[in-house]
Amino acid sequence: MKPYALPISERRAYRGMLLDFNERTVSTSPIIKKAILNLLKSDTLQLYPEYGGLEVKLAKYAGVDSDQILITNGSDQGIDLVFRTFTETGDTVIIPTPSFAMFSQSACISGNKILRPMYAKKNLSFPLDDVLSMINGSIKLIVLCNPNNPTGTAVSIDGIEQIAQRAPNAIILVDEAYFEFSALTAVTLIEKYPNIIVIRTLSKAFGLSSLRIGYIVASKNYINEFSKIRGPFDVNMIAYTASLAALEDLKDMQRYVNEVMKKSKPMIEKFFFENDIRFYASAANFILYKPIQEQEEKILRDNGILVRAQDKTNIENTLRLTIGTIEQMKQFIKVYRNKILKKSKSIKYAFIDRDGTLIFEPQDTFQIDSIEKLKILDGVIPSLNKLSKKGYELIMVSNQDGLGTSAFPLANFEVPQNKMLEIFEKNGITFTKIYICPHMPSESCMCRKPKIGLVKKFLKVNQIDKNNSFVCGDRETDRRFAKNIGIKYVSMKTNGNFQTALSQGGIIV
Ligand SMILES: Cc1ncc(COP(=O)(O)O)c(C=O)c1O
Repeated sequence: MKPYALPISERRAYRGMLLDFNERTVSTSPIIKKAILNLLKSDTLQLYPEYGGLEVKLAKYAGVDSDQILITNGSDQGIDLVFRTFTETGDTVIIPTPSFAMFSQSACISGNKILRPMYAKKNLSFPLDDVLSMINGSIKLIVLCNPNNPTGTAVSIDGIEQIAQRAPNAIILVDEAYFEFSALTAVTLIEKYPNIIVIRTLSKAFGLSSLRIGYIVASKNYINEFSKIRGPFDVNMIAYTASLAALEDLKDMQRYVNEVMKKSKPMIEKFFFENDIRFYASAANFILYKPIQEQEEKILRDNGILVRAQDKTNIENTLRLTIGTIEQMKQFIKVYRNKILKKSKSIKYAFIDRDGTLIFEPQDTFQIDSIEKLKILDGVIPSLNKLSKKGYELIMVSNQDGLGTSAFPLANFEVPQNKMLEIFEKNGITFTKIYICPHMPSESCMCRKPKIGLVKKFLKVNQIDKNNSFVCGDRETDRRFAKNIGIKYVSMKTNGNFQTALSQGGIIV
C-alpha cells in the first residue's frame, strides 16, 4: 500500500484561492471562533475530553435519535470504523470507481477483495445496474459515495433503496460528506433498511476541516459496535466545542451553501457551457471539467488559483474545481478568460462557401438536391489540400434556403453533401466544422450569412488568427460575412476556378 499522497505542500502559505480540496472557501462562523477562544480561556486543555450534548444536537440535525449517532475524528475515521467493524481479510466489497481514496485505503487495510463497477465514461453517472448485478450473498459491504467525490455525480435515493433491498446481508455505507450541498440523504431509509450506515462530516459546509470531526448515523446496535472500536477520546475537545457552536449557527452554514449552490455554481456552469468547456453535472460544491490547455492546472496555480488534477480511469485529464462564493468564482472566470482562453493557440481559418464556390451551383434552381447535380469545381481538391498543408483549418459556411421543408427535404440535401464529403475525405481533406443556415431570407434569422450567428460561438471559443484567416465565396453576402467577422475576403467567380480565386485573392497555395 502507498500512503495517501497530498498533491502539494504548503497550501496554507499559498497566496491565492484554494479551490482544490472541496473545502468551505470562507472562514468559519465567528460564533465558532468565539466558542474555541472561550474553551482556551477556560484553561482546561490539560483535561481529557468530556462529551455530552453534541450527539443530541447532531441527532436533531439529522432527524434521528441520539443513540443513533457516533462522533468520529473526521469522516475518514467513520469510513475506517465501518470497514474494520464489518469486514475481514478476504471479504468482498463493492466500491464504485473512481471515488474518494479512503474507501480503497480502508478496504486494503482490512485485506478486502474489491469489486469496482465504473462510473459511466460518458457522463460519469452512477453505475446502478452494474452494482445491482454484482450483488450476491458473499458481498460484505457496498460503498455509495453520495454525491461522489471526485465526479460530483449522485445516486438517487430510490437507487440506494434498490441496492439495500437487493443486499439485505451487506452493509451499505453511504458517504454524505457533501450532504449540505446536495440535500440528498439516505438517513430516512435507515429505519426500513438497518443495513444502511451513513457517514457525514463537519469538514465541508461547516468549515471545520482542520479540527477533524464527523459522525456516523446508523441503527442503535451498530453504534454500540462502533463505540467498542473507536478510541474513547478520538475526538478532541476543540473540535467538539466548535461543532456544538456550528450547530448553534446553522444560518451561517445555510447562507454559504445557498450562495455556492444557487448562485456560484450556475454561474460557473453557464461560463463553461458558453465556452464549450466540457463539465460533468455535479450535485456537490465542486465540479469536474475537462481542461482546454495542456498546462491548465499550472497556469491557474501561477495565477492564484489551486484546482485539483484528476487522472484516474474514466476521468483522465480532468480538473476538479471547488465552488466558492460569487466573488471567488468571478475571479476564477476572470483568470480563466485572461490566461486560459486567450492562451489558446491562434489558428488560421478558411471559411468557405459551398455552392458556386466548392461545387457547381445550377443557376435556375440554386439547389444541389441530387447526386447527379454534384460536381466539384476546378481547382477545389488541390487547393483545399494545400490549404490544409499550410495549416488552415477548413470551415464550411452555407445558406441553404428552406432546407428541411417540402421544397428542399433534408434527405435530398444529404445525399450529394455526404458524397462530396466522402470525396474530400478520400483526398485527405477534412472540414473542422460545417455550418448550414436552413432558413429563408424572409425568416430574418440570426444565422443567415452575412450575419455571423452560425459561427458566433465558434469565434468566441476559438482563438482565430485574424490576420491570416479569410472567407472565400461567390456572393455579396460572403463579402459582408467576412467584413462582419473582421477578416479578409477572397472573391470567387460563381462556378469558377477555386485555385485561381485563391491566388488572385493573395492566398498563396
Ligand atoms: C467523499 C468524502 N468522504 C469523506 C471525506 C473526508 O472528510 P473528513 O474531513 O471528515 O475526514 C471527504 C473529504 O474530501 C470526501 O470527499
